[in-house]
Amino acid sequence: MDGSKQTSINPFMMYLYRKFSLLIIVFAVALLGAGCYNSTTGDTEVHGIAKFKLPVLPKTGSHKVMVFSEMHYQPRFDSQDPPRILPPPDSVPISGAQNRYESLEEYVLLEAPAEVVTGYDKDTAAELYRVNCQVCHGSSMQGDGPIGSFITRGARPADLTADATRDASDGELFAFISEGGRQGYALVEAGQVSTSPMPAFKMLLTESDRWTLVKYLRGQ
Ligand code: HEC
Repeated sequence: MDGSKQTSINPFMMYLYRKFSLLIIVFAVALLGAGCYNSTTGDTEVHGIAKFKLPVLPKTGSHKVMVFSEMHYQPRFDSQDPPRILPPPDSVPISGAQNRYESLEEYVLLEAPAEVVTGYDKDTAAELYRVNCQVCHGSSMQGDGPIGSFITRGARPADLTADATRDASDGELFAFISEGGRQGYALVEAGQVSTSPMPAFKMLLTESDRWTLVKYLRGQ
């Protein structure tokens, strides 16, 4: 027998298939529709003609299974988008409860505690800055850290070598570091939630670490 005959499809069958394929599908669906399906076990029977299992539909939970769940429509934050997600306001830091200051006037007058002044070590301070601040404020402190280009909304990381920072008192810098930058601080003092991209470091660093950073920003 020659090979071409074995593989060729009968043109008449092709004609039938083309003509009636829709009909065949409709018939199969109708058969299935008339059969019974147990959604807990998956057992399906089509009028004694066929018995088979279909996937089981879960009955628990408050949502239907979404086959095409579109992540696009879920609540989301863009990269570096405020609000910052921080620990709840009443969390007790591992270093113990800390002093609360109500206004910038109270902060302005603060000075670094004696143990930070005497125990100041520039390498430790540089490491604190490198780990916590450099990503935004940059190794030059001019606000040119690598994350800057990803902050698409809100304030840009401040240039910490600029006059505004240099003219601020130690206590003010402590306030800005603690509450999430100058703008962050202003919003918190006004009783609002900080929308500054800078995190409130009072939740993340101990008081003495923050004072160490104040001294570091002073170039000490
Ligand atoms: C996620 C980015 C980010 C990180 C990390 C970050 N900052 Fe900032 N910082 C900012 C932005 C943005 C501003 C400007 C907006 C503002 O002042 O609220 C700012 C402002 C400041 C200011 C106020 C400057 C001025 O004079 O107005 C100080 C001081 C400061 N940062 C210090 C620090 C220190 C110290 C660290 C590390 C412990 C740090 N920042 C970490 C983004 C960041």
